[in-house]
Amino acid sequence: MVSIRPTGSDGVVLEVQPEVALGQLGAGRFFMLRRNDPRSPAIPRPFSLYRQGENGNLEFLIKVIGPGTEALAETLLGEDIQVLGPLGRGWPEMPSDGKPLVMLAGGIGSAPFHIALRDALRGTQDRAAVAPENLHLIYGGRHQGLLYDIEQFEELGSAVTACTDDGSRGFHGNVVQALEDHWQAGRLPEDVRLWTCGPEPMMNAVVRLAEKRGLDCWLSLETYMGCGVGICNGCAVFTREEGSLGDWPVAKCCLDGPVFAACDVRLD
Ligand SMILES: Cc1cc2nc3c(=O)[nH]c(=O)nc-3n(C[C@H](O)[C@H](O)[C@H](O)COP(=O)(O)OP(=O)(O)OC[C@H]3O[C@@H](n4cnc5c(N)ncnc54)[C@H](O)[C@@H]3O)c2cc1C
Ligand code: FES
Repeated sequence: MVSIRPTGSDGVVLEVQPEVALGQLGAGRFFMLRRNDPRSPAIPRPFSLYRQGENGNLEFLIKVIGPGTEALAETLLGEDIQVLGPLGRGWPEMPSDGKPLVMLAGGIGSAPFHIALRDALRGTQDRAAVAPENLHLIYGGRHQGLLYDIEQFEELGSAVTACTDDGSRGFHGNVVQALEDHWQAGRLPEDVRLWTCGPEPMMNAVVRLAEKRGLDCWLSLETYMGCGVGICNGCAVFTREEGSLGDWPVAKCCLDGPVFAACDVRLD
């Protein structure tokens, strides 16, 4: 581990230097991390790649909630962290049809959006840059302490709407209400793409909204994971019969996801 800094009320940004160069990684991939220490749980924990430096170092945005994340947050400079990845399938390519993309993040669910926004704004080898007015992040949390690293998102250059349940920062309400408020005020067109990551009730609400309005919607799921590589079956996600994964009732979040089209999976 080469650096660690606090963020929000209960988070850290952990920077690690991988043993081998990984090249430029796409948005929405994840890694299994474990602090190399007997006090750490034996099973590594999954984390989205938050950012990747020019030097190839990897950054993770971590909310401390239990033994695995506590151990990672207490890592000392120079200590080893087991890093397995990159794993999974990230966000889809953004079609260049000019339709705006709205990313809806809840709390630590913002982590997979930083690279997505940066790449869209800069363009990649295969894709032209997206105009900043066609990218919008709506970032919500119960209170402002749960809007981790929001300044880093604001610095990217596309619109960011902060919203909190208690009104301590930005729009007073949740991410769906903030989106509806933008629609009502005419600040966003009705026809947008939605990408979302956050607590399951929030993602359920986003999916219901997308279904009601017939919007294209993708989700990054945070299921429990044991291995991260398709062996343990710990990450089952129910599929929709009519969806592209529907020839089998469950998908593996670690292999088929963590990013899924909303029309392919069932959250409840
Ligand atoms: C693909 C993927 C990407 C992720 N990215 C991030 C990230 O960027 N940053 C981040 O902070 N976290 C992320 N997570 C969640 C993270 O893996 C868990 O918070 C972590 O495993 C918790 O480990 P722990 O030992 O600290 O807590 P545990 O002891 O495992 O859990 C503490 C409490 O949280 C609950 N819990 C733990 N994991 C989950 C879960 N996945 N869903 C619902 N409840 C849970 C447990 O039931 C328990 O009550 C991601 C998960 C996945 C699958
Ligand atoms: S986490 Fe083990 S199969 Fe997906």
